[in-house]
Amino acid sequence: MNPRHFISLLDLSGEELRALIRRAMVLKNHRDPDYQPLKGQVLAMIFEKSSTRTRISFEAGMAHFGGSALFLSPRDTQLGRGEPLRDSAKVISSMVDCIMLRTDRHETVTTFAEHSRVPVINGLTDEQHPCQLLADMQTYFELRGDIQGKTVAWVGDGNNMCHSYIHAAMRLGFVLHIACPAGYRPLPSIVATAGHSVKFFDTASAAVKQADLVVTDVWASMGQEEEQKQRVCDFKGYEINAAIMGAAADDALFMHCLPAHRGEEVSSDVIDGPQSVVFQEAENRLHAQKALLEFLICGK
Ligand code: CP
Ligand code: NVA
Repeated sequence: MNPRHFISLLDLSGEELRALIRRAMVLKNHRDPDYQPLKGQVLAMIFEKSSTRTRISFEAGMAHFGGSALFLSPRDTQLGRGEPLRDSAKVISSMVDCIMLRTDRHETVTTFAEHSRVPVINGLTDEQHPCQLLADMQTYFELRGDIQGKTVAWVGDGNNMCHSYIHAAMRLGFVLHIACPAGYRPLPSIVATAGHSVKFFDTASAAVKQADLVVTDVWASMGQEEEQKQRVCDFKGYEINAAIMGAAADDALFMHCLPAHRGEEVSSDVIDGPQSVVFQEAENRLHAQKALLEFLICGK
């Protein structure tokens, strides 16, 4: 039987996503050190890009569940020397119980999954970051209840996080207002699938108007460092600051997947202010991914 993978948020139904979020909340609030559903199981984590949250949350999550995690970088494996992906996927998946990949090209993860006999998790590609959305949605559910019917504003780059927010809107039934500078909109192929779940606006304040949740991310993602200077010019007017937050609903939350650049995409008073839930959001990576590992590896 083919294993379930988590490469995109769309790999789960809305019902499965809601169940997973609820399970993450239970795991967070009732931690039982004797509950070790992954005892003796191994997660291989392949990181072609840097990480703090993703690495630590997966590694800690496996340890909590009685299993272990292997950190693999292309620098010290044959992956970095050009061993074909399909061969690597067959070999690695013959020795471990689950594989997580963080890589540039989305196709690397899909190819890996095609040839893996164990579940493959997308730990971020240039196209999507579905694990982050599990944590973001858990955070919203914890603080405000179900997100169905709510309005979420995405302001900034139409990047991997934006794409996964589009998928979340489709699966969980909220409307995503998007404001990106010209030339930085999300991929048309992803927008085309979203129908009425997505609406575009020309300015940050228009997108944020009456929003229940305001989200942004860095203007230059990993691998785009050389564009940083140009992007700072192009994204002028897209900073989430107190004036922009003022246009949102009075009880609106602010989220950012982190790491953040204060004074660029978000002002210090917003990210460190009372509407910001970025550290609860970061912690929830641990709980949401424990629920994901349980779902994929134990099949429940
Ligand atoms: N948000 C997130 O994925 O953080 P890391 O890059 O630190 O893993
Ligand atoms: N968009 C960012 C997210 C980092 C967690 C990046 O890809 O670098």
